[in-house]
Amino acid sequence: MGLHLHLHLLQAQLLVSILLIFVSRSVSTQSNFQIAKPNCRDHCGNVSIPFPFGTREGCYLDETFLVTCNETHYDPPKPFLGDSNIDITSISLKGQMRVMQFIAEDCYSRDGTRVSNNEPWIIMPDGFTVSNTANKFFVIGCDTEAYVSGSLYNRKYQTGCSSTCNDEDDLVEGSCFGLGCCQMSIPKQAWEVEVKLRSFNNFTNVSYFNNCSYGFLTEESGFTFSASSLSDLRNVEELPMVVDWAVGERTCDEARNDISSYACKSEKSECYEPDNGYGYRCRCQKGYEGNPYLEDGCKDIDECKDQTLHNCAKQCNNTPGGFNCVCPKGYHGDGKKDGRGCIRGQSLVFKVATGISLGITLIVLAIWGLCSWNQTEPNEEESESLLSGKMNAFAIANGEGSSTAIGYDSMRDHIILPMGGGR
Ligand SMILES: *[C@@H]1O[C@H](CO)[C@@H](O)[C@H](O)[C@H]1NC(C)=O
Ligand SMILES: *[C@@H]1O[C@H](CO)[C@@H](O)[C@H](O)[C@H]1NC(C)=O
Ligand SMILES: *[C@@H]1O[C@H](CO)[C@@H](O)[C@H](O)[C@H]1NC(C)=O
Ligand SMILES: *[C@@H]1O[C@H](CO)[C@@H](O)[C@H](O)[C@H]1NC(C)=O
Ligand SMILES: *[C@@H]1O[C@H](CO)[C@@H](O)[C@H](O)[C@H]1NC(C)=O
Ligand SMILES: *[C@@H]1O[C@H](CO)[C@@H](O)[C@H](O)[C@H]1NC(C)=O
Repeated sequence: MGLHLHLHLLQAQLLVSILLIFVSRSVSTQSNFQIAKPNCRDHCGNVSIPFPFGTREGCYLDETFLVTCNETHYDPPKPFLGDSNIDITSISLKGQMRVMQFIAEDCYSRDGTRVSNNEPWIIMPDGFTVSNTANKFFVIGCDTEAYVSGSLYNRKYQTGCSSTCNDEDDLVEGSCFGLGCCQMSIPKQAWEVEVKLRSFNNFTNVSYFNNCSYGFLTEESGFTFSASSLSDLRNVEELPMVVDWAVGERTCDEARNDISSYACKSEKSECYEPDNGYGYRCRCQKGYEGNPYLEDGCKDIDECKDQTLHNCAKQCNNTPGGFNCVCPKGYHGDGKKDGRGCIRGQSLVFKVATGISLGITLIVLAIWGLCSWNQTEPNEEESESLLSGKMNAFAIANGEGSSTAIGYDSMRDHIILPMGGGR
């Protein structure tokens, strides 16, 4: 008895470990597709470099996507965009990347003389645009006016905001609407950005708790204002900024006309145009994942391997681009957890439902037939023979347990009477 229980426990343990192996396998293989061209490096430090980006000729789509991996001066190695000093911290195949950008700072001593002021700027190479949706221009300080300016594709822009406060009690965690913090969106199509800071009174009224302003364009989701931002930012030199990238300057339709240079190489890829910037981007079709810029780069997603991707109750069958839920033999239903699932046995509901609908259809047909017959005033015999047919239909419907009470009033008496007798 004790041994028996022990064996059961062992079995259960074995099952659990097998399950765990399966789970970890499916997780690790989930996004294990090739991101770079063969024989090309797909990482620099811990930043992955997916094609169209590449670290040397033959590995990138064109020079726009050159990434210089500096291994000599940095450990871990650090990737830079082209031959610029723009430091990349991540590249996404969704057409965005993060780069580090310096923050602006404007500091004063107690007597109101300026001790530091920088006006950082960034110029994006062709093909890259500062994201107007993922970034916000944030300004921190209690005696501060700030400007963000630069170039859009065919014009200049300048905007800004001011931020003041009288003491630390004015600062509200998470609130960036003018008290110690203000924020602004920047326009679309910006490829050059510069930040400038000024002070109204050189911090003379607030210097006992605040003596610097800070301004930066950064990923909105990565920054939350709090009273401690005033001091925390003292030690920050750079913050991440989101940049949109796309291929070339042509639209999808124009690009498709020249297949040799068309960048959406995978058969299961599709082309779309970005909201910000010029050119086009590629993505894998629904149900596929991988790198759409590589030949055969989009791979089928096996939804059945991931509980969160399918809704099958019993059995999931992967198909190219999708999946089907099936029920084992002897079960019926749609197989979906959020649907009818899989129910043991033959579908009684289904049989009854078809029976009822068949019955109703026949009766409706019968009534319709009788009504149109009325217009031609049939004689007694014709009416009789017609009725025997209808009575059979009625019997079938009754046999399936349906009750019928439709359209009797619209029929003539001599028709209704024999029908009643058919019960
Ligand atoms: C990459 O490495 C840096 C520093 O080593 C670290 O701060 C960062 O979080 C890492 N990024 C990822 C995506 O692992
Ligand atoms: C690496 O970075 C250092 C310092 O920025 C620079 O002097 C050097 O030329 C870079 N090396 C390469 C290979 O780009
Ligand atoms: C600004 O304030 C901080 C904290 O009070 C202080 O450490 C720093 O020296 C001040 N800077 C100047 C330029 O006075
Ligand atoms: C404020 O600082 C600026 C720049 O250092 C200086 O020109 C100006 O005279 C100062 N104003 C006051 C009121 O201290
Ligand atoms: C701030 O200081 C300036 C002079 O440095 C003064 O003119 C102004 O009235 C002060 N403002 C407040 C709100 O105290
Ligand atoms: C049957 O025909 C008669 C005479 O043509 C007509 O008055 C009557 O309304 C008809 N009844 C039906 C149910 O169509």
